[in-house]
Amino acid sequence: MELRFLVLLGCFVLCSSVDLQETTKYEDKECHGTSVGFGYSGTLRNHYESLKNRYQGCTFIHGNLEITNLDDPTIDYDLTFLSEIRYVSGYVLIGLVSELDQINFKSLEVIRGNRTYRVRGDEYSLIVALTSRYNSPHLGLQELHLPALREIVEGKVLFLQNPMLCYVNTISWDKLTKGLNTVGFNNSVHYGAKAYSNNCPPCPVECEFNGISSCWGASSSLCRLDYGLECDDSCNGVCFMKGREGCCHDFCSIGCTGPTQYDCQVCRDFKMGDQCVSHCPESTYTVSQNCIDF
Ligand SMILES: *[C@@H]1O[C@H](CO)[C@@H](O)[C@H](O)[C@H]1NC(C)=O
Ligand SMILES: *[C@@H]1O[C@H](CO)[C@@H](O)[C@H](O)[C@H]1NC(C)=O
Repeated sequence: MELRFLVLLGCFVLCSSVDLQETTKYEDKECHGTSVGFGYSGTLRNHYESLKNRYQGCTFIHGNLEITNLDDPTIDYDLTFLSEIRYVSGYVLIGLVSELDQINFKSLEVIRGNRTYRVRGDEYSLIVALTSRYNSPHLGLQELHLPALREIVEGKVLFLQNPMLCYVNTISWDKLTKGLNTVGFNNSVHYGAKAYSNNCPPCPVECEFNGISSCWGASSSLCRLDYGLECDDSCNGVCFMKGREGCCHDFCSIGCTGPTQYDCQVCRDFKMGDQCVSHCPESTYTVSQNCIDF
């Protein structure tokens, strides 16, 4: 009796420590996003503090990343807490953010767009709007850095009322967004009123390839590199070589080394062992992008 209890206890301790290793092995911190749009509660300072608490150190955002209402001139905003984020499963909304010159999403590679933000009948997964001071529109966001961004899987991109914002119009958004459901689609960005500044210096000379300049900011480390192979139209935007046989599997994001779901660089949805899947099976739970057996 006692022995059995000990064995059970032993297993309990062992099994749970094995589990722990499994979870810490992925250096991921999963965080839950929000769905409040431009809303917030409490004071602007509380709101900023709660954004910091929510997203500090996160690598994977389950849901939407809404960075809004950073427009109190008396607060010294610092958004370095966003710098580890690699993947957002919903949309990214940046709005009413007037008190920062630059925002740097240093690591963000994939905006999945599993949920989109609807504006006048269109579905968006990256929205940047209202980024200058209401009373002094010459003060506001000047650069939005997404140097690691490789794919916006679903949804379009919207810029609206960013009179100081530079360089976003040098980015070929169609290349970043050509994903599922977008065959023959070349209309992925919508520039609304005062979408960006017309008074910007050109991209650094280092950022010019084949006569086209593309950058996220005024520094040569912020050139928008075109990693893309020209994929066959039958591919969903990512491929490992030219032609029909070169398409990555549908479950891949960013790129792949071969045609199967075992060859993806990053999974579009979830990862189960060494393969990408669209949903985690029922016998598992999810931690960040990983399906883990119960
Ligand atoms: C895509 O672009 C081409 C050339 O710029 C244009 O002729 C075509 O109508 C566009 N397609 C869509 C669906 O907007
Ligand atoms: C996308 O949304 C569906 C339905 O809400 C959900 O089942 C699925 O897990 C989501 N995928 C990701 C990658 O979040």
